[in-house]
Amino acid sequence: MFAAIKGWGKCLPPATLTNDDLATFLETSDEWITSRTGMKERRISHVNVSELAYVACERALAAAGKKASDVELIVFGSTTFDELCPNAASNVQRLLGADKAACMDVNTACTSGMYSLTTATAMIKSGVVKSALVIGAEAISPIMDWQNRDVAVLFGDGAAALYLEASEHEEGVLAESLGCFGESRDILAVQGWGMKYANKSRLLGQSNWAFLGQEIFKKAVAGMAQGCSKTLEKLNFGAEDIDLVVPHQANLRIIDSLAKKLSLSSDKVFINIHKYGNMSAATALVAFVEAIEEGRVSANSHILLPAFGGGLTWSAHVVKFGERTTAIAESDVDLPECTKSGLALVQDLIERKKG
Ligand code: ACO
Repeated sequence: MFAAIKGWGKCLPPATLTNDDLATFLETSDEWITSRTGMKERRISHVNVSELAYVACERALAAAGKKASDVELIVFGSTTFDELCPNAASNVQRLLGADKAACMDVNTACTSGMYSLTTATAMIKSGVVKSALVIGAEAISPIMDWQNRDVAVLFGDGAAALYLEASEHEEGVLAESLGCFGESRDILAVQGWGMKYANKSRLLGQSNWAFLGQEIFKKAVAGMAQGCSKTLEKLNFGAEDIDLVVPHQANLRIIDSLAKKLSLSSDKVFINIHKYGNMSAATALVAFVEAIEEGRVSANSHILLPAFGGGLTWSAHVVKFGERTTAIAESDVDLPECTKSGLALVQDLIERKKG
């Protein structure tokens, strides 16, 4: 049994925050951010993460030609759930009206969307469910430390979803490797973001980021390279068997280092970091969905998806795409209108933190 990818959708909030916008309140510049990261702009959400996820799911269902009542499982990968109890997947279930679906949340930081893909695929392959929506979504702007240029320039908000279905054909995830450098978990940690602080600290909901950029950089390249090698080995594949690489987009230099390490030619590597920055759990799936939408994924092709995140978790999946690479239909569901610019939304967040 396989878990075929039959539908795909993404939802990017409309408000854009450019590098020049960041330079209006941080000591930074478009030149520094572009040359060190490859990022030019990112999106700032005016709604919570469940709403971004819901719209992405509606689009994935339309692309698959399916209804909410066809969904048997929702796996929601994120680090910025609206609430911990009840979970966020149950909110998406309610918004969709997918009342037959089991609902679970997965948090492995930036790899959450990819770990969710593994979870849903395994549950379909083992016969627990026949279909699933997989979500990678993040609204990280409310927890961002906007006064800290080490991190504020790197992240953005967004969401993507895949619709999976049981299939006899060899397609969907063929193999993956997952892992975690737990001994290095403190090099990317956010004080105030979790129940450790509840009723004990004025930090709850505030954010002090511990972020050792250069150490994360090295672990990211090592983790993703190791993950890719292990996954290719499982399939007895070489780099030449991969048609497209869609990596987690945290830094263009990390992607370049990975491609060099794996001897991958740059024309095989999909990049969208300039438009969205690092959307944490949403990044890899938004990039995958965009690659499909832009016609970069051909029928029956093999796609390699390496990712890493806080923890420090890492993953690498090889997906075989199916025969159909175009959407069956489009959804007209959209986010409520946003009346503010990205910069105005961020200024509101800075004021709220001060207050
Ligand atoms: N604007 C201007 N200057 C800056 C900025 C900024 N935003 N940030 C740092 N600088 C300065 C530093 O102070 C330093 O100045 P100095 O030389 O006078 O001391 C100089 O720029 C160089 O700083 P470095 O930290 O050495 O810059 P580096 O080239 O390592 O790039 C970066 C930093 C972009 C953070 C890089 O290390 C990186 O991308 N690391 C990985 C981050 C990552 O992948 N994060 C994802 C986490 S995933 C998740 O799960 C949340």
